[in-house]
Amino acid sequence: AAPLRIGMVGLGTVGTGVARILLEHAQRTADRAGRRIELVRVAVRNVAKARAEITKAIEITTDPMKVATATDVDVVVELIGGLNPAREIVTAALESGKDVVTANKALLCNYGDDLFALARRKERSISFEAAVAGGVPIIAAIGQAMTGNQITSLAAIVNGTSNFILTRMFHENSSYEDAVKEAQRLGYAEADPSMDVKGTDAAQKLGLLTQLAFGRRVLPEQFPVQGIDELSLMDLKFADELGYAIKLLATAKLVGGHLELHTQPTLIRHSRPLAQVNGPYNMIELTGDAVGKAWFSAMGAGQMATASAVVADLVDVAVGRARINFERLHLWAEQETFPLQRIE
Ligand code: HSE
Repeated sequence: AAPLRIGMVGLGTVGTGVARILLEHAQRTADRAGRRIELVRVAVRNVAKARAEITKAIEITTDPMKVATATDVDVVVELIGGLNPAREIVTAALESGKDVVTANKALLCNYGDDLFALARRKERSISFEAAVAGGVPIIAAIGQAMTGNQITSLAAIVNGTSNFILTRMFHENSSYEDAVKEAQRLGYAEADPSMDVKGTDAAQKLGLLTQLAFGRRVLPEQFPVQGIDELSLMDLKFADELGYAIKLLATAKLVGGHLELHTQPTLIRHSRPLAQVNGPYNMIELTGDAVGKAWFSAMGAGQMATASAVVADLVDVAVGRARINFERLHLWAEQETFPLQRIE
């Protein structure tokens, strides 16, 4: 079969990880995809720096629009983050008939409605496993594996940086500031780490998960959001003495037919699986009306864990699963949904 030709926009932490998997494990990936997955074009800010990372055969440009509209590209992988120009790039890619793979939760949280509708109109797909909880296959879990259920609640640790900071403070008596720096050094934090520690990143992910699980688009402005930036080591130690861990928890649950959402630091009994998630790991606890409780956990941030999700999405596009999966996701206005609990 013809190779699947990839145009990648952004060669930062995650992009470099994706390039590494595609270049170093080309045969393995081809075996799984039934055809070769070839990185043909990359858009970056700094060409000289990118050259050091990837082979000569790949066309490098500083113009992302060239990649988005190139006729020799089948899939655009958007890994620059942020709203603009990511929105223009993804729009142009879909307009020119390409499938899109993205790790950009802010983009989907803010402009998902338009972009999903455009993809559908163009009979293309947007895959975004990497946008929520890095290495945890939670989009596949909710979108495919759990479809025999109505999910009734969702409780999630979905910001690796916050969880890493809390873990490090508690176990190493580290200061909050040092832990933030370490999370940045390890490539877990957003470009602007206030997105992580103020709960915005987790709230955007909760918005996306809520849409998939309950069919309602919810923006972070519509529910209470609080981060970990006002917690102290004392809070963590006192909670521990009382038998609790403190985690940044994003929750959505059905209460009397209404949806209730929060993102906030939460006391969790030591015996619960969520209390035992440490470092950059994420966990999503789902309750389904048939399966009962189910837990999904893996590294939620970092280069290779997130790259792992992007490559899985590319394999889905290559085998033709991405469009089927996308069409079945709970993203469409005509599907059944639940009203949001009014926040007074
Ligand atoms: N900054 C994010 C986190 C990266 O720490 O979870 C993954 O979305």
